[in-house]
Amino acid sequence: MKISFAEFALPRSGAVVVGAWEDRVLTEPALRLDEATGGAVSRAVAASVRFHGKKNELVPIIGPPELGVSRIVVAGLGKADAADERLLQDLGGTLVAHLNGAGETESTFAIDTRDAAKLKPAEAAAQLAFGAALRSYRFDKYRTKQKPEQQPSLKAITVATEAAGEAKKAYRALGATAEAVFFTRDLVSEPANELYPESLAERAAGLADLGVSVEVLDEDRMGEFGMGALLGVAQGSVRPPRVVVMEYRGGGGTAPVAFIGKGVTFDTGGISIKPAAGMADMKWDMAGAGVVIGLMRALAGRKAKVNAVGIVGLVENMPSGNAQRPGDIVRSMSGQTIEVLNTDAEGRLVLADVLWYCQDRFKPRLMVDLATLTGAVIVALGNEHAGLFANNEELAERLLAAGNAVGEKLWRLPLSEGFDRAIDSDAADVKNIAGDRGAGSSIGAQFLQRFVNGVPWAHLDIAGVAWSKKDAPTVPKGATGFGLRLLDRFVAEHYEKE
Ligand code: BES
Ligand code: MN
Ligand code: ZN
Repeated sequence: MKISFAEFALPRSGAVVVGAWEDRVLTEPALRLDEATGGAVSRAVAASVRFHGKKNELVPIIGPPELGVSRIVVAGLGKADAADERLLQDLGGTLVAHLNGAGETESTFAIDTRDAAKLKPAEAAAQLAFGAALRSYRFDKYRTKQKPEQQPSLKAITVATEAAGEAKKAYRALGATAEAVFFTRDLVSEPANELYPESLAERAAGLADLGVSVEVLDEDRMGEFGMGALLGVAQGSVRPPRVVVMEYRGGGGTAPVAFIGKGVTFDTGGISIKPAAGMADMKWDMAGAGVVIGLMRALAGRKAKVNAVGIVGLVENMPSGNAQRPGDIVRSMSGQTIEVLNTDAEGRLVLADVLWYCQDRFKPRLMVDLATLTGAVIVALGNEHAGLFANNEELAERLLAAGNAVGEKLWRLPLSEGFDRAIDSDAADVKNIAGDRGAGSSIGAQFLQRFVNGVPWAHLDIAGVAWSKKDAPTVPKGATGFGLRLLDRFVAEHYEKE
């Protein structure tokens, strides 16, 4: 979908969207259209008894004869003092879905936000376009028989704004972020026969074009580093594992911020095999890695003034004659030995070595890991919030705030001494599951904490939010890319202004 910005002029073709504030207060473009159509807009609004101008309310006026446009949509904007970037993003996304549903091919968005207290016109226009772009995403690479009516119809939108030049500039960074979100969604959507450790590493290697230096560790290198925990998970698969190290330097001499992703390209559970129902979902058990790779692309794409490291641990968790067994004891890079009591608790084994490697090599100022780590986080929090665990208050606060700002919400869950005792092993230094079934997400996080070596660290358990079964305004169903916008904002707010 093509996006452009222009001064408002009465459109003569396509669909045109105008705004109305709460209590049906028409904005200026709406009034101009009303005049040009002999009152069609105000008549339609008056006749729509359920329309109050609240957010998410739309009045479609189909084929007004006077102008040559195919349709006018009056969009509710809510209260002017409440309008913020999220409202505009959601509106942009909702409009894209609405217009695609109606078969429209081009549209002018003339949402006049001059009365919005919190936003400059250029910023408002850019955010509207950003939301529209995010919703326009589709993964239909493998669908060869779609009829035209099953495909999106909307090919181009023009966002009308008095500050077109400025809006275009403001959109540059947002557009780069949207591209990165699409890149992540593509990775997460791919099936595991196409996307496995080597092929995922190759896609990450493409970031070199944007000035990210990419290093791929193979099994031999991992063996030299002593990454026995990660290698233990990988040994059941014929697909060899990879660790991908991505470095982006845009911030002078400061210590980097580091992002770590779980990249289990398929999780059968291993010998502790999962039930058949729903197992196909485990193709997206690499979502954490997908977000980290996409985040590095976003930071490089918008030339962020930060030093950032992204490291992903890529493995396939399979049962086989060579798979690790429950009860096996592996030696992690940290030197700690791990009793693997359940081979399905594999993400923490992969991350144990990647976290240790990261702090050891890069001495980062902080580490944030993302992982589809536990089904338990879905039981606790559902599909709207990701679980947040942190050993540092400031870091936790900053992540929570960034999540709220972009609409990728986090909810903090506890780490504790008690959880730490629950993973003491009789046979090794630590075991990968606790004896009973309580607080599974905290147990997983507590395990990870044994490998962060005191560095300020946060863990985002994204098992409930990485994939969505229903459409949301800026996130079509499927792979969400959850966490990318959050961390992009987190970096922009706190680590670029030094
Ligand atoms: N990848 C799963 C967690 C998961 C479940 C992600 C559902 C997305 C949706 C993880 O590797 C796993 O299997 N965790 C186990 C841990 C248990 C064995 C302690 C789980 O949650 O059951
Ligand atoms: Mn598992
Ligand atoms: Zn897993």
